[in-house]
Amino acid sequence: ALDIRDLRTKTGCITYDESYGNTGSCQSRITFIDGEKGILRYRGIPIEELAEGSTFVQAAYLIIFGKLPTETERLRFSGLLTKYQMIHEDMKFHFEGFPSSAHPMAILSAMINAAGCFLPELNTEYDAERFEIQAAHLLSQVRTLAAYAFRKSRGLPSIYPKKKYMFTENFLHMMFSEPDEDYELDPAVVDALDLIFLLHADHEQNCSTATVRMVASSKANLFASASAGVCALWGPLHGGANQAVIEMLKEIRADKDDGTLFLDKVKHKNHGAKLMGFGHRVYKNYDPRARIIKRKCDELLSKMGISDPLLDIAKKLEETALNDPYFIERRLYPNVDFYSGIIMRAIGIPTEMFTVIFAIGRMPGWIANYREVAEAGDSRIYRPRQIYQGPSLNHYVPLFER
Ligand code: ACO
Repeated sequence: ALDIRDLRTKTGCITYDESYGNTGSCQSRITFIDGEKGILRYRGIPIEELAEGSTFVQAAYLIIFGKLPTETERLRFSGLLTKYQMIHEDMKFHFEGFPSSAHPMAILSAMINAAGCFLPELNTEYDAERFEIQAAHLLSQVRTLAAYAFRKSRGLPSIYPKKKYMFTENFLHMMFSEPDEDYELDPAVVDALDLIFLLHADHEQNCSTATVRMVASSKANLFASASAGVCALWGPLHGGANQAVIEMLKEIRADKDDGTLFLDKVKHKNHGAKLMGFGHRVYKNYDPRARIIKRKCDELLSKMGISDPLLDIAKKLEETALNDPYFIERRLYPNVDFYSGIIMRAIGIPTEMFTVIFAIGRMPGWIANYREVAEAGDSRIYRPRQIYQGPSLNHYVPLFER
């Protein structure tokens, strides 16, 4: 077998792999993807089976701890999530400092780091014995912070989590309840949002997870590493695509286009136009998560009696694109972000919160990847090389001579 340590001492040869398209940056046991066949498995279990049988919290446990929880483990972990769901009361002052125009992703990344400061006993280097407690704090509190960020952006008072609610129920409660009236939880809505969290829970070395591992490799703490993940996720080419998809669909509708004119712009790369929610670095086939989400989208909207014109445009775009040589040649298919926004719109989640929902869902993956880096006792700090293209030698010129 290859001994990686042998390679560490050899220097002088650098492989150039733009954007790391073919670079295996780590060894991992968490998530398997076969992009050619459109396969995704968490700890070996197909995503379709998890979507059918598991809750988000059980899938989170599987991803973080490597196995599905027994009933005792599930109860203990759920108990920890409930126990640690409140954030420190003084964190309200931090929320107050943000302007109401602040994007909730900016608030979320700052507040995850701030939450760590309020937990000094946990905001330390990796500690195997206390890791379950650390993980439960982060997973539970990110949901509270996300809901508070939304309420802040609307100038609304924050709503405390309640012990009687499960993970996803509590999030909806903190988002939509009023101080004197609880939000009416619809099991179909809870189930759909829980599924969205589960489908986003991990996806191997994507931009944000690779960022978390990069930061973790410097032995930064879990909260700092996760906060960096939020920043990386924010961009429209990554997690921000779910927001960009809805904005694109709205624009197409406002132009009274059925998608034909827009796809023409995309194919001619007019001002860099892209069909958002399509294409993937790894999947060269239909993203299995998109298939599950599309089905759930139809099911939820019909249960809620909603007819969303954006869904009709999205379906038309998909049908046209999948039969168009531009998309066929480049093997571009819908990804997880193509239909998820339509479900979130139906639930009443505002567009600027879509990527925040993704971040809550992705937290188990970031936590598991952080743990993998921290537990690999002999792992070295991540440090890619570059192909230098600047001048080989220049000399300093004093200011008065320039
Ligand atoms: N619309 C139109 N053309 C596209 C799209 C798209 N969505 N995606 C890729 N292409 C084209 C590229 O322009 C390129 O064309 P060319 O051969 O003429 O130069 C070709 O397909 C290959 O694409 P790359 O840019 O090399 O693909 P890469 O792997 O670098 O990018 C990415 C993947 C970022 C996801 C890209 O497909 C994209 O921008 N998609 C839209 C944004 C999006 O949906 N992001 C979410 C991804 S999933 C996630 O992060 C959860």
